[in-house]
Amino acid sequence: MLGSGLGQLADAIESPTLIPYAGIPEFPQPGVSGHSGDLVLGHLGGTQVAALKGRCHLYEGWSLEESLIPVRTLLELGIELLILSNASGGINPRFHSGLVVAIDSHIDWLFQTRKSPNPDPSTGSILMRSHRTYDSMWLARAQETALEMGFCLPTGTYLATLGPNYETRAEYRAFGRMGADMVGMSTVPEALLAMQHGVRVLAFSVVTNVANADVPSQTHHAEVLEWSANARARLQPLVTKIASKYFR
Ligand code: HPA
Repeated sequence: MLGSGLGQLADAIESPTLIPYAGIPEFPQPGVSGHSGDLVLGHLGGTQVAALKGRCHLYEGWSLEESLIPVRTLLELGIELLILSNASGGINPRFHSGLVVAIDSHIDWLFQTRKSPNPDPSTGSILMRSHRTYDSMWLARAQETALEMGFCLPTGTYLATLGPNYETRAEYRAFGRMGADMVGMSTVPEALLAMQHGVRVLAFSVVTNVANADVPSQTHHAEVLEWSANARARLQPLVTKIASKYFR
């Protein structure tokens, strides 16, 4: 699942078959720039992959269930590993724009789990929580592979908000005190859904702007797209190497 400005990661896919979301029954159509809306099937590092170029966010008005149709489709196609990616605002002061971080936990500030029209009868929720959502083995493998490639892959806690606004300085400060390292508007429902289906999750967050709660500044979508393009130079070879190293 390729997040904001990360769709071009799919350019590395060999012998691609591109299917526009518009041609797939029931698929939601992303409305935000930086999300083209194509399913790309092909090979990466010698293994079969399916890439979702474009994500539908809850702030666009999609229901939780609608927003999950693309990932649900991949799960039904029988994927072994779900690799999620997103762009995020950095809260951890050690982070910088362009940094790729592996998500190892999250804070769910989406408050959606009980709104589903189609809840799990045993729990009343389609998305149960788990402390094992982000698979520790795949996280360690990704870190090891990044080191082999010459860069460090830090881990962090991702806080998901409904958006679409970026945060006020007071919100960035509050989220930092809550324990968040990054903040964004996606990923958590997709990770929970995969976990419930027994599919392991590896999630990357690209920090596109770093919050400084003490200095007035504004985040712009263009800046987010620019820094996610910059991070692609590390994320694309990293994902390719993971595919070739662990699936061949
Ligand atoms: N906040 C929320 N989502 C984001 C941000 C941010 O600062 N940057 C990129 N996605």
